Amino acid sequence: MLRFGGDYNPEQWPEEVWAEDLRLMSEAGVNMATVAVFSWSRLEPEQGAWDFAWLDRILDLLHEHGIDADLATATATPPPWLVRAHPEMMPVTADGVRLEFGSRQGYCPSSPVYRTHAVRLARTLATRYASHPALKMWHIGNEYADHTLECFCEVSAAHFRTWLEARYGTIGGLNAVWGTSCWGQLYTGFDQVEPPRTAPGPVNPAQLLDWRRFCSDALLELFEAEKAALREVTPDIPVTTNFMSILHGLDYWKWAAAEDLVTDDAYPDPADPESHVAIALSYDLMRSLKRQPWLLLESSPSAVSWRAVNAPKPPGMMRLHSLQALAHGSDGVMFFQWRQARFGPEKFHSALLPHGGTATRGWQETLQLGRDLKALAEVAGSYEQAQVALVLDWDSWWGLEAPESMPSDRLKLKELLLDWYRPLHARGIAVDLAPPGRDLTGYRLVIVPNLYLCTEESAKALSAFDGELVVGPFSGVVDAADQVHPGGAPGPLRDLLGVTVEEFWPLHDGVTQATTAGAARTWTEWIHATDAEVVARYRGGELDGRPAITRKGGVTYLSCRLDDPAPFLDTVLARADVHGVEVPRGVEAVRRAGHLFLLNHTTDPQRITLPQAGTDLLTATSRQGEIELAPRDAVVLRLEGRK
Ligand code: GAL
Repeated sequence: MLRFGGDYNPEQWPEEVWAEDLRLMSEAGVNMATVAVFSWSRLEPEQGAWDFAWLDRILDLLHEHGIDADLATATATPPPWLVRAHPEMMPVTADGVRLEFGSRQGYCPSSPVYRTHAVRLARTLATRYASHPALKMWHIGNEYADHTLECFCEVSAAHFRTWLEARYGTIGGLNAVWGTSCWGQLYTGFDQVEPPRTAPGPVNPAQLLDWRRFCSDALLELFEAEKAALREVTPDIPVTTNFMSILHGLDYWKWAAAEDLVTDDAYPDPADPESHVAIALSYDLMRSLKRQPWLLLESSPSAVSWRAVNAPKPPGMMRLHSLQALAHGSDGVMFFQWRQARFGPEKFHSALLPHGGTATRGWQETLQLGRDLKALAEVAGSYEQAQVALVLDWDSWWGLEAPESMPSDRLKLKELLLDWYRPLHARGIAVDLAPPGRDLTGYRLVIVPNLYLCTEESAKALSAFDGELVVGPFSGVVDAADQVHPGGAPGPLRDLLGVTVEEFWPLHDGVTQATTAGAARTWTEWIHATDAEVVARYRGGELDGRPAITRKGGVTYLSCRLDDPAPFLDTVLARADVHGVEVPRGVEAVRRAGHLFLLNHTTDPQRITLPQAGTDLLTATSRQGEIELAPRDAVVLRLEGRK
């Protein structure tokens, strides 16, 4: 079964409305609702004064209507009574400002008060609903790192010190790793170490890197603490927390390992005609995190309410974007939220049931999607490894984007990933993401857009891969401590690549550098091909005639960011014998196990020659040869000979 439904906030509505909610949910085919995400102050308006009656009734109603509950632990907004009793649990900014109550996610991730009460609430809910038949999944917290990724208070500082002590053992160990002999920062005790608060100048980048690791870990500790309480009481109910698509702040490889199911919230901007590409990359990451199907837990039926200008989704786009998530491995489509709110910051956020009720095109599209998801049920649970992988590492991302100490602040990891992802996506080639240490067996082509921070272990894993490998610029520069590898880049990748990098040569915005493989932008390097063939050279400028792209065995090194990597990519794809599906620009072709999704993201009809005959599950018709896809329409083919 594919999941269909969304966040349901009945506490914002009088009870008379609930019956209609459930009737309409049934009509639309909703089979899962996320409940109680922000309900702490409603469930426990004063400490220990529980009010479960409403949630009891809602869970009963859901179950009576055959709808499963993704039940939140309700810890996302600690209630006013707790904040007033413990004002120190509110987060503090890098400038020392303590934030006020009045929004949501107001807690210091390291606060023992918040943690104790959150775990108490999670355990209380688990105990109460352990045997409720509607309970099918635990939704821990909500979008960790949303609003509150970090806190610079004294409690956080103490937690950071404990984390550092566990990592380095002695202050001498920390001094060595942080390189505190630079700028006179030698510490003589952990008690002198603070979070990277606003300082007179650039902060030690090793300290910043450890801070990023710590902040991701501190939130994960919270998740783990609630999970432990749930596991004690309901060991068989799967746990998740909703991710925020590809996100700088949290190391999702680590986080996903702690979850039973990966779930994601995705909000591509309807006004951006290319937004389906970046979101596809996120979806592929979600599928790759545990190498299994995932679930789109939040998306938007039409407009959101948090952009400066909130464009609605034109007719057909909600369906198309939903099918896209399925194509990339989601086992359903869920939304924020069920019924459009009348008050609060999200009153203009769209919902499956709009302000205008059932007399709206929005509601008609909700009904249509419900029908489509039923027709597509057979894709649920299917998973297949792709032939191409992009390597992504959070440590390296954090290091690369450290402020104020890099040769250029223009190398942004997400953009570097998209440089490669975009042409792969346009060619209908499925892509996985992989952490650098993962066993890469089975892939034909692995691209490392950038691996600024590269450990010996990562280098070893990449060296063990025997397919086509492409390594992008500014890789192998530093070790896990953000210290430059002896002899400089590419450090532990030197033997694998057969090059040495003498000097980084970043380019100003708008400047390009010609190479025999096309123009480079943002970044070039002065390199030596010590043990590699030169396949492209710089043309003109200071680097004239020097190697730009090298190759050793099946391993290519790019010392620059190509303005258009597509022609180069095509030669690599041919070598790796990887083939996609030929489609017109703006049409997305995605294979999911024995199915082919063809999604027309353009506003024109498009003609496509099917690579294989099959049955379109959406219309239950056989299709072969050339077909026409209407604007924003899709076909989902069960390919012949496959089930
Ligand atoms: C998410 C959040 C939801 C809702 C939604 C609106 O970030 O988890 O509660 O606010 O955004 O787009």
